[in-house]
Amino acid sequence: MKPRILKIDPYNIDHELLKQGVKMIHNRGLVAFPTETVYGLGANALDAKGVAGIFKAKKRPLDDPLIVHIAEMEDLYHLTKDIPPAAEKLVNRFWPGPLTIILKKNDMIPDIVTSGLDTVAIRMPSNQIAKKFISMAGVPIAAPSANLFGRPSPTTAKHVVDDLAGRIDIIFDGGKTEIGVESTVVKIDDGRVFVLRPGGVSIEELRSIVGEVRVPDESAELINSPGKYPEHYSPEAKVVLISSDARQIEKTLLSLWEMESYGLRVGVMAKQEHIDKYKNFNAKVLGPGKDGRTCATRLFQILREFDTEKVDVIIAEAISEEGLGLAVMNRLRKATRAAAS
Ligand code: TXA
Ligand code: MG
Repeated sequence: MKPRILKIDPYNIDHELLKQGVKMIHNRGLVAFPTETVYGLGANALDAKGVAGIFKAKKRPLDDPLIVHIAEMEDLYHLTKDIPPAAEKLVNRFWPGPLTIILKKNDMIPDIVTSGLDTVAIRMPSNQIAKKFISMAGVPIAAPSANLFGRPSPTTAKHVVDDLAGRIDIIFDGGKTEIGVESTVVKIDDGRVFVLRPGGVSIEELRSIVGEVRVPDESAELINSPGKYPEHYSPEAKVVLISSDARQIEKTLLSLWEMESYGLRVGVMAKQEHIDKYKNFNAKVLGPGKDGRTCATRLFQILREFDTEKVDVIIAEAISEEGLGLAVMNRLRKATRAAAS
């Protein structure tokens, strides 16, 4: 069964089209919709059977909990309890927007949404199509990224079609997403703020609101703890992350020639300032190395393009970890690990 693809102009939203999605959600159907970060795959968060469909369509393990999306602040108080002051400060500053917060859940949220945890991830997106869709649905919407489990997250409706055609009911096509990487996931424990996943709100922005923020050391081995499934964001190709100093680039150029001489297809994801160095190869610009925000908008698109081109190896240049650069590097490191294992 082909999904119904409904094109929606974000500047002139057709409510009749949104109603089709609302009806589907109330019939336990699955609706993909744009958010400001990536496309989400939504079901009624209060209906366990509807939510079960998400796991099936994505081939996602049941022990990887979902994010519940809301449109009004009062829903936060219906769905959660014991909200710490730091959480209040963060949502007041960053909602609607790319911040997900983990809080104690209320009983109305079915276990399947949270994989049995007593906490729930909540986010209020700022994308106008998402906001309107959620408020018209009149229920919170459980939605992971709308990709097959383990694949790069979708930043266009086409990416959703490529992964999930035949497995879901409706796709709202609202064009390319604005940020391009997923939301920042934050948990507060004993008043201390922990970042579980860097994303669309930068660490610097979080610190400006709550002071100290703990970020996992990514050079340490990925530890598998409940509620933190090792996402891999992996394209088909093997991903190799390189530092981008002059000596490393010289070495990389040599190995690129060598790999091609063995008949391997290679792709390079380069910083804008280095693109000329790779002119003899299939190289794409991620963005200026100090501009994490721009790089974030292109990352998943480029990984998917290399897949379409059946590239075997992707050489990715490291970028600065300031601002959204941290989220970009986090996804690249995970893509590297997945390919190696
Ligand atoms: O930007 C985004 O966050 C997108 C859009 C669609 O909103 N959604 C998204 O969802 O990226 P997903 O399912 O791909 O990632 C959700 C992350 C997962 O790493 C999951 O393990 C974590 O949030 N998570 C969800 N509930 C949790 C909980 N109760 N405790 C700890 N982590 C949780
Ligand atoms: Mg995901």
